[in-house]
Amino acid sequence: MALGPAKAGLVLLGTQGLTACSGPQSALAPAGAGAEPLADLFWVMVIGAALIWLAVIGVAVYAARGRPEPHRERTASALLLWGGLAFPTVVLTGLLTYGLMLMPELRAPGDGLRIAVSGEQWWWRVSYHAPRRTEPVPSANEVRLPLGQRVEIELSSPDVIHSFWIPPLGGKVDMIPGRVTRLVLEPTRTGEFRGVCAEFCGTSHALMAFSVVVMEAAAFDAWLAQEAEAASEPTTDAATRGRELFVQVGCGACHAVRGTPAAGTIGPDLTHLASRATLGAGTLPMSEPALIRWIAHTEEVKPDVRMPSFGALPDEHIEAIAAYLEGLE
Ligand code: CUA
Repeated sequence: MALGPAKAGLVLLGTQGLTACSGPQSALAPAGAGAEPLADLFWVMVIGAALIWLAVIGVAVYAARGRPEPHRERTASALLLWGGLAFPTVVLTGLLTYGLMLMPELRAPGDGLRIAVSGEQWWWRVSYHAPRRTEPVPSANEVRLPLGQRVEIELSSPDVIHSFWIPPLGGKVDMIPGRVTRLVLEPTRTGEFRGVCAEFCGTSHALMAFSVVVMEAAAFDAWLAQEAEAASEPTTDAATRGRELFVQVGCGACHAVRGTPAAGTIGPDLTHLASRATLGAGTLPMSEPALIRWIAHTEEVKPDVRMPSFGALPDEHIEAIAAYLEGLE
């Protein structure tokens, strides 16, 4: 059956409306202590606004159909006073008080683990500062969190303003050059989620996402210990050749692969690249074909990215480098 444009629009609105309530990037499917009050606030406002809208439409219908004679002046003044002044004052004061009451909860200190996240153009530099570790653990484009712990996220940016937002876990906080802003996240269920940049920051703002993994505390500790390790040795000839080429071509000027001469800090740390779900900060799914595409056509995949395309390299060199990177778990 063919749908008219109006019906198709309604169906789309309905399905979009329903899918917006779930999924890895929904603020309405809270998985964190910070997101629960925000979802509650959202529903209070939506239901309240719907009730007020119905009341206003009801009064309008009554005025148009139900009551042909005009009100007396006293009744009209009373309606204006109560409906136009007293009612909005009470409702808005109530909402403001409710909103302010939610805030101290979001500002409480963390339990010890700190994660520094810097918004870069257009990716995320991540560094884990765990209480029992002397050295921070560098990573990129992925944030892992232990279940049930309050983790302090320190947000910064070297150049332009970004905004760090994991909708299911908490509110968004701006990353402002020259200062450090803070956010505490306390995940309440395990799972994989998606974080985004919520402030327009340049050409590839929309291609600046990151994956979020909430793990049981013991699994998180094991993962962090693994993330702190140097890169694994290549296991195939192609990957071994890829490692040589990676260093020869100069990838190490921007990228670090711990345990190799590559120690650049301009771009993302690639030591455990293949253990992440995505490539190019949420732009492509992690796979060898995607790595090949990324290396050969970087600027087409992510416009204005700082990394130049290496499409001029022979295909077999690109394939060997991709094979090496695919093995960096
Ligand atoms: Cu970073 Cu938008």
